[in-house]
Amino acid sequence: MLRTLFQTKDLKEILAASQDSAHSLRRALGPLQVTLLGVGAIIGAGIFSTIGSAAAGDAARPGAGPSLMLSFVITALVCAFTALCYAEFASRVPISGSAYTYSYATLGELVAWIIGWDLMIEYAIGNVAVAISWSGYFRSLLGNLGIDVPLWLATDYRTGAKIEGLYEAAPKLFGVPIVCNLLAFLIVMIITVVLVWGIRESARFNAGMVVLKIVVLLAFVAIGISFVPSGQLSANWTPFMPNGFAGTLTGAAIVFFAYIGFDAVSTVAEETKNPKRDLPIGIFSSLAICTLLYVVVAAVFLGMVPFSTLTGMTAAERSEPLTYALGIVAPQATWASIFVAFGSVVAMTAVLLVFQMGQPRIFFSMARDGLLPPVFASVHPKYKTPHVTTIATGLVVGLIASFTTIDEMVDLTNIGTLFAFVLVCLGIPLLRLQDRRNPEQAAGISGGFRVPLGPWFLPLLGAASCVGLMVYLPPSSWWRFAGWLVLGLAAYSAYGYSHSKLGRRQGRPERVPGILKLAALGFLVGGVGMMFVLPHDLPATAMLTALVSPAEAGRAALGGWLTVGGLGLGVLCWWWFSRRLTSSPAT
Ligand code: ALA
Repeated sequence: MLRTLFQTKDLKEILAASQDSAHSLRRALGPLQVTLLGVGAIIGAGIFSTIGSAAAGDAARPGAGPSLMLSFVITALVCAFTALCYAEFASRVPISGSAYTYSYATLGELVAWIIGWDLMIEYAIGNVAVAISWSGYFRSLLGNLGIDVPLWLATDYRTGAKIEGLYEAAPKLFGVPIVCNLLAFLIVMIITVVLVWGIRESARFNAGMVVLKIVVLLAFVAIGISFVPSGQLSANWTPFMPNGFAGTLTGAAIVFFAYIGFDAVSTVAEETKNPKRDLPIGIFSSLAICTLLYVVVAAVFLGMVPFSTLTGMTAAERSEPLTYALGIVAPQATWASIFVAFGSVVAMTAVLLVFQMGQPRIFFSMARDGLLPPVFASVHPKYKTPHVTTIATGLVVGLIASFTTIDEMVDLTNIGTLFAFVLVCLGIPLLRLQDRRNPEQAAGISGGFRVPLGPWFLPLLGAASCVGLMVYLPPSSWWRFAGWLVLGLAAYSAYGYSHSKLGRRQGRPERVPGILKLAALGFLVGGVGMMFVLPHDLPATAMLTALVSPAEAGRAALGGWLTVGGLGLGVLCWWWFSRRLTSSPAT
């Protein structure tokens, strides 16, 4: 049977594996550094960029208007439920793999694989979005200082098509304009070098940037308040919900991006001196500090600019909302805009640093379990950092950031992260059930933080509220996300299933069976169809119609058949494989 797909890993074994000195990281971080890492990961493109679209809305989505303050509170609550669950896991299973490790211990191997694969969206794609935003702010900062970087080196090809005259201005190669976000690529490369260099140095670098970005946000608040009379500030807050509660919730789903990162704290568990105590402190303090700052910044921002003005912002103004607001209330104070632009660049550099640090550590844990090739678990002999995965992540993130748009990347990051949060929340009741079934294990991992009010109430509320926010994200992000998970199934069929250390101990085949290679091919085709071929804006009914009248439906029909055919082949192969297994003792 295939029940070993849901085999959970023994917690004591997980903890023991992390002590293996050949694969261990250096414990250098205390509670303050962990909190600073959290704040470093949280405050970034979300507050400096996405609040423009969240407040004003766009053609496809209603804006929150002044109720964006409420959106921030709603999202903070959703994150707080999940933070409780993360804190319990992080303090009881202090291993570098974060949600991946937690689900291996509670929900079993297949779910762990899915979540590890999904976390690549949070960390790597999240970083793609931040790098793109960084490049925009950095370019305008340089512009303010009199250095002009051509736009064709700081934007992607598709966005470039919407900017008048850009293709004409760009140099051509065989007649094709060269347009790519080189600035985004370069910053990711610099961060990669810093991270290979070492965790202690990186943490110090981060602490400096965190202090600076808090100062910049506070300065924005102070400048805003001093330039706008208090009566006008509050007058701009009405109407509070120009697009009703739907606008507020859509805003909440977008600004979720601004909160992503408190969970990244759990990825440095193996580098923390006293993880049982320091990780919960780091998670809660960083979330609390950021919530407070966000609500205050949103209140001042929405008091500075009336909603009717916000809706008229151009795409460029939308991506730099804070400097835009300063330009409106204090056009003479260019120093203020330069200072805030500088602060945003610093803030986003810190986010890039923490996320780029998190991703390799998840790969590291997956490789240690045999689900990824061993090279992903190698540690640099001198610097003691996972250098191979750090460099590989840097290259992939940098390349994707050179060619994609920020909105798509933010939506995809949000949906992927919310899904991971749902699974972490669901893991808590299962962890406690395991405690009851296996008191000896529970005693072995005793101590640490526990979610209050029992294992069901708050975790289930957390899972439900995350799903609630996912509903407000656009269909394109759902399709891309589902496609990515299907590609994950392809990789699991082609490698993870047969190389899993846990699975091998239970008699899985040493070599990847041919039928699973075929399943991998099916999932690969299905995933590509879902992510890149299906026209995502088409309603589901139109997609179904396209399947039966392919001649007229063109791309929709091709995408539909790739999806249905690929998924069908993958599932059929696994079904066949599982039938063969039932007749042999090997599982
Ligand atoms: N929370 C991070 C940011 O806003 C991802 O940049």
